[in-house]
Amino acid sequence: METQPHVLIFPLPLQGPVNCMLNLAEILCIHDDIHVTFLNTDHVHRRLLSYTDADERFRRYPNFRFQTLPDGMPEDSPRTGEQIVELIQSIEKVTCPLFREMVTAGGSASARSEKPPVSCLIVDGIFPFAVDIAKDIGVPLFYFDTISPCAVWIYLLVPKLIEAGELPFQGDDLDAPVPCVPGMENILRRRDLPNFCQSKTILEDPIIQMVLNEAQYLPKAQGLIFNTFQDIDGPILQQFRSISPNVYAVGPLHAHRKARIDSELPKTSNSIWKEDWSCMEWLDKQPQKSVLYVSIGSLAVISEHQFMELWHGLVKSGVRFLWVQRPGSIIRPSNSESQISKASVELSRETEERGCIVSWAPQERVLAHPSVAGFLTHSGWNSTLESIVEGVPMICWPYFVDQQVNSRYVGEVWKIGLDMKDLCSQDVVERMVREVMEGKKDEFIERSEKLANLAKQSVMEGGDSYQDMERLINDIRHMRI
Ligand code: UDX
Repeated sequence: METQPHVLIFPLPLQGPVNCMLNLAEILCIHDDIHVTFLNTDHVHRRLLSYTDADERFRRYPNFRFQTLPDGMPEDSPRTGEQIVELIQSIEKVTCPLFREMVTAGGSASARSEKPPVSCLIVDGIFPFAVDIAKDIGVPLFYFDTISPCAVWIYLLVPKLIEAGELPFQGDDLDAPVPCVPGMENILRRRDLPNFCQSKTILEDPIIQMVLNEAQYLPKAQGLIFNTFQDIDGPILQQFRSISPNVYAVGPLHAHRKARIDSELPKTSNSIWKEDWSCMEWLDKQPQKSVLYVSIGSLAVISEHQFMELWHGLVKSGVRFLWVQRPGSIIRPSNSESQISKASVELSRETEERGCIVSWAPQERVLAHPSVAGFLTHSGWNSTLESIVEGVPMICWPYFVDQQVNSRYVGEVWKIGLDMKDLCSQDVVERMVREVMEGKKDEFIERSEKLANLAKQSVMEGGDSYQDMERLINDIRHMRI
């Protein structure tokens, strides 16, 4: 009798990738014959269990288990965007050998008896070591880079951009077009490429080696999984199909999970911060379509000056706002008194009148709330998809990685918001907030709602993402190498 399939899922241990891959894992788990091992780092797992019901939620699947490994980082490392290179390097040095041992031994000794041997790997695209490990144990590898497919495609083109002399940039004109990325002709300017492309010393930066590794190893996988859907990323998915035998566009995964499992959101999301639900009661008291939601995700950090410009801009715009101020997201100057503590009484009073501030929100619920009419976001891919699914127009202020290209697509391609890239001054914030929340509100909402419908259709039975998920499940069951 054929042994049952056993998928080992290993995300980059950060809020965005973990959230996204847990949604995929749960969809696989409703197929009783598919065993799933989800590999978290100790740090992420401790926080996930502290702040969510994930352990209880997944306990209902006898074919699912969590396993954990150390990430090798100092326990008190904030693991924000400023430490992302250090984290990835630490995983390669410390976690990778332990991961190899785990899959080679078919999981930890105690767990070996419960489950059949690992029969396929779903690993974050940023980990080049997965190719050799999959080959050594003779199982197929599906790479899943959970950032936007557009950004992954740019990563794959970086070697060509360097060869063509496009990188490092010659001169300082960031509005110069970048014409040589197939599928993105006439869309990209230099400022829309991942932020590390703007470095004059790009060829010596450690991150470029990670990107070059991904460009080299990603096409070696038996399949590529993306958290997107055909209607927004068709041209880029076509490009990937030219370099990989199996491409699975199965997103938006949070909506796909809801469509297949239950339309009700679970009691908590997959947050690794404590959610403050008091904002939901505040939203209930606000008029319909009157609130701007503001969040920069789980990794972005801003200076005090940027914080004050954003704060003044929000207050001057006159709109109601729900603002997530994530612990550790403001870089406070050590050498001078904090500008925030000196903020004017006027600013604080107006914030008291029209604003609600929390440290972390139940974001999917917030975006689904009828009072929310706009999202000022850093353009992280999960946030972008969650806003698209709820039909909420965006104002994009990207920080790093894929966020620059995501904000370009929101503003120029999908036209469901404004790209505030590089311009965060209080006047620009005020102007853009008024444009999205007042001037062009109906136009943006109409376009956003059309895209929301396409997103929801894609994950319903018969939709493109639904069908790609069926193909992925079939390949998990039957693919051999
Ligand atoms: C990171 C990268 O920054 C992002 O660019 C990449 O696409 C994915 O990995 P992150 O910065 O955390 O992700 O942003 P994002 O992808 O938007 O993920 C944030 C997640 O946290 C979302 O699922 C969002 O719903 C959730 N969130 C955010 C909350 O639950 N509450 C909050 O207050 C803020």
